[in-house]
Amino acid sequence: MKLNILVLPGDGIGTEVTREAVRVLRRVAEKYGHELSLAEGLLGGIAIHRTGSPIPEETARLAAEADATLLGAVGLPEFDNAPPSQRPERGLLGIRKVLGVFANLRPVRAYETLLDSSPLKNERVRGTDMIIVRELTGGIYYGTPRGIEGSGPEERAVNTMAYTRAEIERIARMAFELARQRRRKLSSVDKSNVLECSQLWRRVVAGLSAEYPDVELEHVLVDNCAMQLVLNPTRFDVVLTENMFGDILSDEGAVLAGSIGMLPSASIGPKRPSGAWVGLYEPVHGSAPDIAGQDRANPFGAIGSVAAMLEYSFGLKEEAAAVQRAMDAVLASGRVTADLKPKGAPCSTSEAGSAVCEAI
Ligand code: IPM
Ligand code: MN
Repeated sequence: MKLNILVLPGDGIGTEVTREAVRVLRRVAEKYGHELSLAEGLLGGIAIHRTGSPIPEETARLAAEADATLLGAVGLPEFDNAPPSQRPERGLLGIRKVLGVFANLRPVRAYETLLDSSPLKNERVRGTDMIIVRELTGGIYYGTPRGIEGSGPEERAVNTMAYTRAEIERIARMAFELARQRRRKLSSVDKSNVLECSQLWRRVVAGLSAEYPDVELEHVLVDNCAMQLVLNPTRFDVVLTENMFGDILSDEGAVLAGSIGMLPSASIGPKRPSGAWVGLYEPVHGSAPDIAGQDRANPFGAIGSVAAMLEYSFGLKEEAAAVQRAMDAVLASGRVTADLKPKGAPCSTSEAGSAVCEAI
């Protein structure tokens, strides 16, 4: 099979983890006889430095042409005080919108071999296996009006959270379908005791559940969900939520997985005529400027995102499983980066990547 992939390393550790993820891709292509065609593009802070825009037109064009896009991370401290429209993060929001990838799937698993990496008690975390389905192209991240106006005590900032029934329905269907392939339990998370957006969300999700009688649906308020995630994480199977709640809850999920460096994600959009999903694959973590350039970052979130790409964008289930098995074997062998607090000397980013390649 020919795999046309766009790589957007981005900023900070994004470049380091995507380098390892690409090595894993090459290894898979070599072993299973696929032809890899890789393009590279600019996104985020590096794109602002080189072109003045966090998402240059060329990048948007390359992403539209590729079968799938692999992304590292964006964000550089020198833009911390820049207005949102001129920040690296705008590049990420832009590429998600351009591709229309409305469903962000963030699996959270507690690996048996990593239980001690979590600050939570082993018996609480053991068996955690959930997937957070985060709506990705709507809500307060994109709503208008937005901005800061006026000055002095009257200076005022505004953001807008808005959802249409159609936006809620398509993400909810995705979550119901996923639940069907798993343990058939769906937890829809909202703040319907306060927000109108959440009231519509709950009504639409509840309405759809008649079409999925085999899936057990519960509604959980987001504040309670935040608590349940650390008190009783094994009760969750599929967690469905809007954009900002999903952003926040998935970082909390990282505590269950042992490190945010472990979490992969797949952002998928409408199906192409070929039947394949439009897909953007990125680790959940950010650019981590504090450890950038030190070859210390955990590449497993990025490598896990490659496995997701093989499965969702190319339908290569066996290849995806091979990457997952290799990661499991490396984790069990203890050849892991410092964030996972290994018993022996920690591996570098590139050593961890090499270990996965060898295990494939
Ligand atoms: C994430 C990140 C992004 C988000 C930032 C970098 C814009 O935190 O993917 O979780 O908020 O979506
Ligand atoms: Mn986030």
